[in-house]
Amino acid sequence: MLRTHNLGELNLENINENVTLSGWVQKSRDLGGMTFIDLRDRYGITQLVFNLETNSDLCLQARKLGREFVIQVSGRVIERSSKNKNIFTGEIEIEVNKLIILNPSKTPPFTIETNSDGGDELKMKYRYLDIRREPIKENLILRHKVSACTREYLNQEGFIEVETPYLIKSTPEGARDFIVPSRMNSQQFYALPQSPQTFKQLLMVAGMDKYYQIVKCFRDEDLRSDRQPEFTQIDCEMSFIEQEDILNTFEGLTRHILKKIKDVNIDKFPRMTYDTAMELYGSDKPDIRFEMKFVDLTNDCKGNDFIVFDKAEFIVGINVKEGSKFSRKEIDKLVDYVKSPQVGSSGLIYCKFNDDGTSKSSVDKFFDEKSRKKWAEQALCEKGDLLLIMSGEKEKTRKAMSALRLHMAELLNLRNPEEFAPLWVIDFPLLEWNEEANRYNAMHHPFTSPKKEDITKLENDPAAVRANAYDLVLNGNEIGGGSIRIHDKKLQKLMLKHLGFTDEQAQNQFGFLTEAFEYGAPPHGGVAFGFDRLCAILGGSESIRDFIAFPKNNSGRDIMIDSPSSIDRAQLDELNIKLK
Ligand code: AMO
Repeated sequence: MLRTHNLGELNLENINENVTLSGWVQKSRDLGGMTFIDLRDRYGITQLVFNLETNSDLCLQARKLGREFVIQVSGRVIERSSKNKNIFTGEIEIEVNKLIILNPSKTPPFTIETNSDGGDELKMKYRYLDIRREPIKENLILRHKVSACTREYLNQEGFIEVETPYLIKSTPEGARDFIVPSRMNSQQFYALPQSPQTFKQLLMVAGMDKYYQIVKCFRDEDLRSDRQPEFTQIDCEMSFIEQEDILNTFEGLTRHILKKIKDVNIDKFPRMTYDTAMELYGSDKPDIRFEMKFVDLTNDCKGNDFIVFDKAEFIVGINVKEGSKFSRKEIDKLVDYVKSPQVGSSGLIYCKFNDDGTSKSSVDKFFDEKSRKKWAEQALCEKGDLLLIMSGEKEKTRKAMSALRLHMAELLNLRNPEEFAPLWVIDFPLLEWNEEANRYNAMHHPFTSPKKEDITKLENDPAAVRANAYDLVLNGNEIGGGSIRIHDKKLQKLMLKHLGFTDEQAQNQFGFLTEAFEYGAPPHGGVAFGFDRLCAILGGSESIRDFIAFPKNNSGRDIMIDSPSSIDRAQLDELNIKLK
């Protein structure tokens, strides 16, 4: 062993022990006749001291060490004169009597500090250096702990982990597939799984009963802070269960994780139907850590000759508590925000309810004190509150107001990352209209079962059919989604027909599954958690990138290994692929 201890474990109890340590030079300071070096490894930092008077050769050698040199030292643990109570090793230092350079280092392109000076791209190019930084290192350790306690819970509940293949055929989860050409089957292609959905259902037909897998999934879709082209799911499936069983089991998993990782105890998770979530928050993943619920003002705002409201399909307000203190300039900024391309609204109306009992709106020309009072009653506005109103086409207005609600919460610091507010959103619609393709898509995926009582609406009112589908939302992020599946061949075929598949297409793409349903498929259902998202939220962030060891940038590139990249002519020939 090149060390007797790691760099996070020595303290006053080890005084006078002779130790050998190895690690990276974090920083060094020369103070008169002494040189101090902070030596770092995964476990912490230990201070080394070299004395010019008592061991000048060694001290001069130490003074030449650069940042990130890898060294091995031997010496005696002594008590520090100026102690640092913030770190475990802060009361001791090592009086070094032997120094070996295990490997020198070039000067790193950015500082290996919590608040580093490097930009994002630079840090991604040298990700192995970025991981040496405390925050990224801690995120990866957190990720490890979350996966360990996920396995602990699921194993205890009788789930077994089964691996499913990566070289498969397209699984429709709503994104594009990543495609892999086959050398042995010329002109044919595998698809990488968007999820192991069909395989886990086949495992249920196979009688595995309770399956899980912490598994990579691949989706070629536009990237955002909470999306990566390859990401990880905690993928689960159970047989002989109903929706209630799934919700309880995975609420249990989430509770277990929150307790183990954050020491947070949460009672029963609230449940909300999709319709209610849309009505109250304009979102199917509402952040319920704060109020600001939507108030429908459509009936209260029409008929005052204000053309914008009169012609609007929908008028909605949110009450920003104690928001009347927002200045004119600040409100103008809110207007700019809602008009920005990311929100895309045409404008924003406000009404301030002042501390002195008066009120003032941006549309006083049309709405007198009495109308404004009516708004206040509807939206439960009190003195000091600010009512923000948007209007227009219903769906768009809800979406824009939902963005504004989150924006206001951000401005007012209402989203405490240390507070955890989970929520089940249930009763999702089965189908959603796809404008481009001019047909319905499965809102979750084509294997999701419709609610029994809604099946008859499939033919004439497909948009009204609700699904046995649910999402788990945590602090306004969709961290999981699942459904009770169709296990009947006839119903699966009917569903595929409604999704626009011809019999032939359905047979080609999913024949293996519908055929399996003829061999005694048990009733089954499941869920998949977005593992990276879960880790990010537990780590107090909504961006998943820093919870993945080697993530891609927003263009889907790994700039460290320079991928994707072109391949050799010979390799293309072997695959029988001709480039233009
Ligand atoms: P779904 O498509 O809802 O369901 O995915 C499950 C969860 O995976 C996470 N997620 C992502 N995380 C990071 N980057 C991405 N690109 C990305 N896409 C999705 C989300 C999401 O809630 N087979 C079904 C599950 C089932 O029905 O059991 C499925 O994959 O947190």
